[in-house]
Amino acid sequence: MPAIIVVGAQWGDEGKGKVTDLIGQDVDWVVKFNGGNNAGHTVVVDGTSYGLHLIPAGILSPRVTPVIGNGVVVDLEVLFSEINQLTSAGIDCTRLRISDNAHIIPPYNKVMDGLSERSLGERKIGTTGRGIGPTYADKMNRIGLRIQDLFDESILRQKVRSALAGKNNVMVNDFGLDPIDPEGVANELLAYAERVKPMVFDCSLAINRALDRGETVLFEGGQATMLDIDHGTYPFVTSSNCTSGGACTGTGVGPTRIDRVVGITKAYTTRVGEGPFPTELLDAEGDKLREAGGEFGVTTGRPRRTGWFDAVVARYATRINGLTDVVVTKLDVLTGYDKIPVCVAYDIDGERVDEMPNDQSAFHHATPIFEYLPGWNEDITQARSFDDLPENARAYIERLEELSGCRVSVIGVGAERAATIVRHPLLDQRA
Ligand code: GDP
Ligand code: IMO
Ligand code: MG
Repeated sequence: MPAIIVVGAQWGDEGKGKVTDLIGQDVDWVVKFNGGNNAGHTVVVDGTSYGLHLIPAGILSPRVTPVIGNGVVVDLEVLFSEINQLTSAGIDCTRLRISDNAHIIPPYNKVMDGLSERSLGERKIGTTGRGIGPTYADKMNRIGLRIQDLFDESILRQKVRSALAGKNNVMVNDFGLDPIDPEGVANELLAYAERVKPMVFDCSLAINRALDRGETVLFEGGQATMLDIDHGTYPFVTSSNCTSGGACTGTGVGPTRIDRVVGITKAYTTRVGEGPFPTELLDAEGDKLREAGGEFGVTTGRPRRTGWFDAVVARYATRINGLTDVVVTKLDVLTGYDKIPVCVAYDIDGERVDEMPNDQSAFHHATPIFEYLPGWNEDITQARSFDDLPENARAYIERLEELSGCRVSVIGVGAERAATIVRHPLLDQRA
């Protein structure tokens, strides 16, 4: 009956979608609590690959009720295009529920996202361009639009007008663009109201009642610890709380109800977009890892930056999220190395640093101190128990466990749902 949070422990794309799908087989609810269609999850079931962005990965499990929580930002056009795509692939989307407090990404915020990147020039974030940052900024600025506003035309029109006034000034005066007509935007959004209505519900009430009934709830995080607005590599982050605390604020469920917090990490590291990345490989070794791991973004198609496992990041993720379990994915990608470097600490201006430095310049200067672990050549994609792994692969996992300060409960050895080793089942009541 547990409530379990799944979060990214690195810079995103760790395989959260696969893990949600895996345990989604045995849960009743999957609630997405942050982010929007900046996320991209590839889930492979019986040879069929599904690309998910806004809709929780739980949609692929027939018994799950998938939920978009209040902490998510919703692009209505994307919502319905994903629903249409999944429906034509035979997936029942009528179960999907949306919090009436979730914010809407209005079309003008996609324009603002691009303009903000243009203004930053060389210091750009490398966003996904989906309007995520401006929409969370509007939320904090109290000029956002919520799902419930769709059901009161005059309120919606009024809110669009006041939000757009300032943005039109910027678009016209700073960038020489034509102003956007608020009535046109309102009409576009209102056109979705009837289709959205049957999905809308009180997320906090429904999920707390489900927990009261003893049902199992999985809170699905988008993005990751190092992209968190408070705890990530600010300003090279996304604009939401992707860490475990976000699961509570993003759904209306209190922290005392949570049983497990699971951090997902790759056996190495990737990052998309700009920002510091101490273990990054900028040479042919990085290309090799990118090819072997198929590291190309599912949202923007950008090649992902690649590097070795960073245990300083892993320890930080354990601390910030209060992790009870770690899932290490893509161990199979590391097959064939003689020695595998693992970053155990940083050298910052000549000093050894074991914990994540809060000082941004220090982190920019950090160079990895590596430990070299012996590799393996055996194909591990068919391994289904820890004992099936070669000794060096087991030792690699045990070392990551030691360095991360959290037990490794599940190991991924392939993209398929079945290509998984479970050491400690994630749905047991308490860690
Ligand atoms: P997410 O955003 O955290 O859900 O991760 P993505 O789906 O963006 O990226 C993870 C990629 O790795 C996807 O293409 C998955 O199919 C794939 N994947 C997940 N786990 C494994 C694994 O254990 N081994 C391999 N080879 N691929 C995996
Ligand atoms: P999933 O859920 C990897 C990155 C972008 C950019 C920064 C800010 O698939 O792990 P944004 O559009 O959110 O304002 O971009 O965050 N980013 C991700 N990187 N995986 C993601 O999601 C990401 N979502 C955003 O590349 O650097
Ligand atoms: Mg992804």
